[in-house]
Amino acid sequence: MTDADVTSTLSALTLEQKASLLSGFDFWTTKSAAGADVPAMTLTDGPHGVRLADMDAGEMGLANAKPATCFPTAVTLASTWNPALLERVGGALGVESKALGVSVLLGPGANIKRDPRCGRNFEYFSEDPTLSGDMAAGLIRGIQSQGVGSSLKHYAVNNQENDRMRVSADVDERALREVYLASFERAVAGGNPWTIMCAYNQLNGTYVHQHKWLLTTVLRDEWGWDGLVMSDWGAVRDRLAALEAGLDLEMPARIGHPTDQQIVDAVRAGDMDEALVDTSVRRIIDLALRTADAREASAEWDQAAHHELAREAAAEGAVLLRNDEVDGEALLPLDPARSVGIVGEFARTPRYQGAGSSQVVPTRLSTALDALRDARGDVPFAPGFAIGEGPASYASAADLIAEAVRVAQSVDTVVMFLGLPGAAESEGFDREHILLPADQRDLFAAVAAVNARIVVVLSHGAVVDLREITAPAILEAWLGGQAGGAAIADLLTGAAAPSGKLAETIPLRLEDAPSFGSFPGEYGHVRYAEGLLVGYRGYDVRDADVAFPFGHGLTYTTFEIDDVRVAASGEGVDVATTVSARVTNTGSRAGAEVVQVYVGDVESTVLRPVRELRAFAKVALEPGESTVVSFDLDDRAFSFWHPVLQRWYVEGGEFEVAVGSSSRDLAATVLVDVVGDSETLPLTELSTIGELRRHPALAEEMEELLASVEPALMAMINDIPAETVVSQGWIALTPEKWAEFLERAAN
Ligand code: BGC
Repeated sequence: MTDADVTSTLSALTLEQKASLLSGFDFWTTKSAAGADVPAMTLTDGPHGVRLADMDAGEMGLANAKPATCFPTAVTLASTWNPALLERVGGALGVESKALGVSVLLGPGANIKRDPRCGRNFEYFSEDPTLSGDMAAGLIRGIQSQGVGSSLKHYAVNNQENDRMRVSADVDERALREVYLASFERAVAGGNPWTIMCAYNQLNGTYVHQHKWLLTTVLRDEWGWDGLVMSDWGAVRDRLAALEAGLDLEMPARIGHPTDQQIVDAVRAGDMDEALVDTSVRRIIDLALRTADAREASAEWDQAAHHELAREAAAEGAVLLRNDEVDGEALLPLDPARSVGIVGEFARTPRYQGAGSSQVVPTRLSTALDALRDARGDVPFAPGFAIGEGPASYASAADLIAEAVRVAQSVDTVVMFLGLPGAAESEGFDREHILLPADQRDLFAAVAAVNARIVVVLSHGAVVDLREITAPAILEAWLGGQAGGAAIADLLTGAAAPSGKLAETIPLRLEDAPSFGSFPGEYGHVRYAEGLLVGYRGYDVRDADVAFPFGHGLTYTTFEIDDVRVAASGEGVDVATTVSARVTNTGSRAGAEVVQVYVGDVESTVLRPVRELRAFAKVALEPGESTVVSFDLDDRAFSFWHPVLQRWYVEGGEFEVAVGSSSRDLAATVLVDVVGDSETLPLTELSTIGELRRHPALAEEMEELLASVEPALMAMINDIPAETVVSQGWIALTPEKWAEFLERAAN
């Protein structure tokens, strides 16, 4: 179908039909138009597996879905720092969507992890917009390569679950642009999702589904995106305002479809331009066209191959946080010559995905206990704690711990599986603390008292406080999906080498988090008081100690990064910088390193983070092998959002370009001179003497005028509005001259 066909399909529709196409038919499908070539489409969750509701089993139950591969969740996928792998996972998601007759998979989520407590952090990628945007883009490209649409969500500033359907996220413009929207902007630029799902919440007092600036000005006019915007499920409050703002499709159906009639009535009454309706209907037709292939359900895919891909992704997404030597050797990979005991219920009953709308019914499920026993024979196991409600009495908790201690005493090395029970983190609510359950902490202490050789494997969807977990080795396995158990065994035994890096900082304490005091807000408002100092930007600016920094992750070999070179050219918006570095595998095993490029402005007239991730690349190297990686940075790597000029702005001067293997392990920092934009701010009645002095049309004359002003007075009046200084006669600037200056500056 061509553009002309879309036009002719549109012209065959009555106003009633058009309005009806702009809301769902039921919970998961859109409407078709009788007699016209507009088919119904199935839209379903997402993001790490296809959750197609099994209507026979009851629509609303989150666990009533057709089996599909449960890939690792976003927290795990993000820790791979490997967009190409995410593209492959996306491809598999696309294949399964198509097989199940799904036109649009609802995901991925590109919201920034503002606070460790957000209940949906497991479903989001990162605290950093570059990483988040690139990972989302990879997944989108993969899904859409199969002719299935993705729905980038939840646009925008949905960074908590508490009061998510009403709360107003009160965010300043720079934080919004440089952190929260930047993640979506990058995902849109790199992935071009066919649809975007807007969030439930408000932004600075306006529901985002009615926010014209967000849905039209930024998304379409500035970013040039041409897809369809749908609502989050049940988000729409005012259908007409939403349509005016740029919300095309209301999902799901409302009982009786009253909003379709509202649209018809508004057009008939002359209160709404029919062209607005046509624009949104065109986007529906266009989506139907793009997803035409997805409607031929085949119900077939290679389940074994997808399980293996899930295993690969889970292994790549696990982060080796610590691997200290005990008696002269690191505990991991496990020494085949030493006996091993397994402790922790999660080894037998894996925690492998989050809760809420993303919950997938897996096609199969591997456990670390089975996989380790396959690899190491019949190793002893003790559950150590009970998941969920917990043991019925303190005595039974003590018994479980005592049994685990006995196992720990009988073996050389203990592998202990700890984590959060599923009920601790979910869509719909936030956590109140980030501690591991008390019985697990007691278990660790009791086992550590009898055996120092402990490897801890963690399963959970968002960071936990690790101060009490003093094990020499910690593998952060996050939520590994249905093959997570096998992936953990691969890593522990050394069949695979860890290569994950943290996509979020693990703070020492929740209280250290930059957003700590302003989350989740009160009385309908959450003030983003930390501004753009989110995640590592906030820890770095205060030089705060953290448990493990953003970008951190070890492996079984060592790497050296050297020969860092930086060359800059162009000015302002044309600034272009090439960064290159050599990375060498200096150890004795194959492995992969993520080379990370951070940029910081050495001296700035505005607040800038110490450094910000601007590029990264994952490279796999054999022992002794070396390669040169290079990156092209454009002006955005150096810019901040200028709230007066209303555009990205490069302030010229010296910048630090740092290359390293984490945000706090920088191999080299190179200083580079960047030629900036010119900043001519419009002058107003309230412009200060300092602003007049910086204005190119007035600078020279102002210096002459001020030549005889004594330095102490000068320092004082610099920040005083010229109008005040003039009216008080503090300097030789007359009212007439000031009026002339204003006029000259305006031209
Ligand atoms: C969630 C979305 C999800 C939708 C459909 C909403 O509650 O916020 O992420 O796609 O439900 O299940």
